[in-house]
Amino acid sequence: MAGIILREPSYVRVTSKISVNHPPVAKMVSRLSGKVAIVTGSSKGIGRAVAELFAVEGASVVIVSGSSLDAAKAVSEGIELQGGAALPVKADVSKASEVKAMVDATVNKFHQIDILVNNAGITEPKKLLEITEEQWDRMIDIHLKGCFLCTRAVVPFMVAQKQGRIINVSAPSALRGSAYHADYAAAKGGIISLTKVAAKELASYGINVNCVVPVARTDMTEIELAYSGKSEKEHRARYPLGRFARPEEIAPVYLFFASKDSGYVTGQVLAVDGGLTI
Ligand SMILES: NC(=O)c1ccc[n+]([C@@H]2O[C@H](COP(=O)([O-])OP(=O)(O)OC[C@H]3O[C@@H](n4cnc5c(N)ncnc54)[C@H](OP(=O)(O)O)[C@@H]3O)[C@@H](O)[C@H]2O)c1
Repeated sequence: MAGIILREPSYVRVTSKISVNHPPVAKMVSRLSGKVAIVTGSSKGIGRAVAELFAVEGASVVIVSGSSLDAAKAVSEGIELQGGAALPVKADVSKASEVKAMVDATVNKFHQIDILVNNAGITEPKKLLEITEEQWDRMIDIHLKGCFLCTRAVVPFMVAQKQGRIINVSAPSALRGSAYHADYAAAKGGIISLTKVAAKELASYGINVNCVVPVARTDMTEIELAYSGKSEKEHRARYPLGRFARPEEIAPVYLFFASKDSGYVTGQVLAVDGGLTI
């Protein structure tokens, strides 16, 4: 398996005499030790990098593909080979019955759900007038409805546990209205609204809900590049930082939202996009 190295927890506090509230000197702390995380769309791309990082940090992770159990198994087996705990699931997040089965399988295997990353997504760039009703519905269903269905399915467990973290995934097009993405941008804009509503409704149960606006080079960006007809150089020029990130480079932002470090953060939207949306 490329990319993943399960190792000693990376979070090491070596300070002393700062505050009685700090852990002992040099105590190793795995940021997600004992936690269970569902990462939708983790068969590849950003979701895979996030799930693998969560596993490195001690979480048991549910690897979800929308189309292929084998694809989920490949990622899951890689994590297990490195000493982590993982469960592969095939679940289309736009279908309530499949979302329920995903959550049931998680609880059967790991007995709790602490973290949900609503990451599953597709893109199909097209001019506004060329978008069919079927495509519009599919885009809204996978992104926005999928986010709602997964949230609705896990929240009762988080309420019972009196804690939880939900990390939604939007896109720069929701903030800046990228051409040829009317359906995608509308769905991703809805996810930002849903994040804020859920953050307000769920805060009293100890559930924090935040939203990442990512950019990283994946199969999805290959589709965007091919559709635009622009050169790689032209694309990079749009980013103040002048390059695409790798999924592994942006995964720590998801870890921040999943961990105790973000305990006082909810309802926020954080762009990790090389400055594209400045
Ligand atoms: N990459 C970027 O620069 C970028 C920019 C803005 C926003 N995003 C957002 O970030 C998220 C991840 O994107 P990515 O670039 O990593 O995409 P990706 O590499 O194409 O991966 C997409 C993932 O979503 C899964 N998926 C698709 N439809 C699904 C469904 N109906 N149910 C469950 N899973 C489904 C895919 O699973 P299978 O293929 O195995 O079915 C795959 O694991 C998406 O929400 C995307 O919109 C990405």
